[in-house]
Amino acid sequence: MSIPEALNVRTPEFAVPRHVAIIMDGNGRWASTRGLPRSEGHRRGVEALRRTVRAAGDLGIGILTIFSFSAENWARPANEVRELMGLLRRFIRNDLAELNQSGVHVRVIGEREDLSSDIRSLLEEAEELTLNNTKLTLVVAFNYGARQEIARAAQRLAIEVAAGRLPASAITAEAITAHLDAPDLPDPDLIIRTSGEQRLSNFLLWQAAYSELVFVPTYWPDFDRSTLEGAIAEYRRRERRFGGLIAQTGS
Ligand code: FPP
Repeated sequence: MSIPEALNVRTPEFAVPRHVAIIMDGNGRWASTRGLPRSEGHRRGVEALRRTVRAAGDLGIGILTIFSFSAENWARPANEVRELMGLLRRFIRNDLAELNQSGVHVRVIGEREDLSSDIRSLLEEAEELTLNNTKLTLVVAFNYGARQEIARAAQRLAIEVAAGRLPASAITAEAITAHLDAPDLPDPDLIIRTSGEQRLSNFLLWQAAYSELVFVPTYWPDFDRSTLEGAIAEYRRRERRFGGLIAQTGS
């Protein structure tokens, strides 16, 4: 085997984290620095999302989780909430066929009960249509809050305990993990937040216990493959020890 072929064998699987999660922040600031309405920032944010899903698939990332609408985003002005709901509808209607053709499996985490029935149906349609795809799992966190997700897991376990089907001692970290919204998925290896803010804002708090956090100054609408590659390069420079002593580096 020639050297270039040998190098190829190590990429992309060895070079990239298995699960990347992104807090897509800065749409509003991207727009206001250009004198544009915030809605234009969100619209351009959807374009950045399309680019990023394609780049993630090309790079060999297995799971991409995106924070699309937080449980706290309802506090925004009604017209902005309507705009974000409209963008989700259009994203699924316009992009679902292409996502499906390119092997993307769409999953959704978050509380669905508060969503309108047409959005619930679209989310279900996306999940059902793409169920057997294996190239990339796109996890859409919509009406999602991590504290709420952990509380839902605790409630499910409490019901079992109250019914006498489970001893209280069975409420372990593993049991809580098993009752989260997507219990079968591995924790994110890398969480990226755009726009320069450095906090998790109620995103994947349980799953982030050992994630590497990378904050990039780029506003979300400007995010592209090279920004993603830069964040992955930073991730690979980190030493992951998971509380132990032996370093496990980025893959
Ligand atoms: C943060 O920017 C972004 C959001 C609240 C929503 C993220 C949504 C998208 C990228 C587009 C929608 C995509 C789907 C699939 C619905 P911000 O408004 O908080 O920006 P700011 O902090 O600069 O004001």
